[in-house]
Amino acid sequence: MSAEQVLGTTGMARRTVGSAESRRAARAWWDADADDYLAEHGDDIGEIDFVWCPEGLREADARLLGEVAGKRVLEVGAGSAPCARWLATQGARPVALDLSAGMLRHAAALGASTGVAVPLVQAAAERLPFADGSFDVACSAFGAIPFVAEPSRVMREVKRVLRPGGRWVFAVNHPMRWMFSDDPGPDGLTVIQSYFDRMPYVEVDATGAATYVEHHRTLGDRVRDIVLAGLVLDDLVEPEWPEGRETVWGQWSPLRGALFPGTAIFVTHRP
Ligand SMILES: C[S@@+](CC[C@H](N)C(=O)[O-])C[C@H]1O[C@@H](n2cnc3c(N)ncnc32)[C@H](O)[C@@H]1O
Repeated sequence: MSAEQVLGTTGMARRTVGSAESRRAARAWWDADADDYLAEHGDDIGEIDFVWCPEGLREADARLLGEVAGKRVLEVGAGSAPCARWLATQGARPVALDLSAGMLRHAAALGASTGVAVPLVQAAAERLPFADGSFDVACSAFGAIPFVAEPSRVMREVKRVLRPGGRWVFAVNHPMRWMFSDDPGPDGLTVIQSYFDRMPYVEVDATGAATYVEHHRTLGDRVRDIVLAGLVLDDLVEPEWPEGRETVWGQWSPLRGALFPGTAIFVTHRP
C-alpha cells in the first residue's frame, strides 16, 4: 500500500497549518512512506554517501562542512542516515536525528548491514534534545526544514546546540521551484502559482486532517530566519545540473535542471 492509502489521503488543500499539525503529518507521512522512499531513492542516496541534492553534489567534493575528522556532527532530518554514516567514515562523531521511527528503522538496519552504525535520535528539529554548544557542525540534506511550519525555530535550536564558530549547512528545495508543479517533464516548466504565496501545500484525509504538508519560504525568508537566529550566512550554493546527468529524482530532471535551480544550500555559522 502507498503512504496515501495507509493514511487515507483523499485530496489536497491550501490552508494554513501550524507547527503541531505539520509535525504530526510529517511523522505519520515518513513512517508510512519510509519503505517506498528507500525503494525509490535508495540507489540515489546510497548507503554510505553524502549526496547533498538531486544534482548529485557530494560532500566529498564540495567540502561545505569543512574538516570533519574528530568533530561532533549533528545531522537534522537524517532519514536512513547515509550522510551520517559517510561522516563516520571520515572520522567524525555524527548523531543522526529524525522525527520518523520508520526512517530510523532503516537507519538502524543499514547501520547493522554496512557495519557503520551511528547514534540515532528520534526527535523534532524544532526542539533538539541536546545541551547548548554540544556540536561542532550541523547539517541537513532536505531533512525536516521543508516540512516545518516555523523554520526559524529550527535555526534558533541549531544555533543553540552549536559551539561558537560551528557551521550549520542545510539543503532545501530551491524556493523558485514553488512556482511550478512537481512534474519533472515539460509540464513542470509552466508557472502555476506565485513565488510569494506562502500558503503551504497540504494533502488531507476524509476528515480534513493533514496527511502531508510542505511549507514554502522565499529566499529572503530563509535569509531572514538565519540572520534573526543570530547565525551568519557565509554562502548560498545553487548546484547546477551536471552535463550528461540523466537521473530523474522526483521533480528534479535534466530538462528542468538545465533551466533553473532545484536546490539551495545555505552555508552558515554561529559567530
Ligand atoms: C526527504 S527526507 C531526507 C532525509 C535524508 N537526507 C535522505 O535523503 O534520506 C526528509 C526527512 O526529514 C524528516 N523530518 C520531517 N520533519 C521533521 C522534523 N520536524 N524534525 C525532524 N525530522 C523531520 C523526515 O522524517 C525524513 O526522514
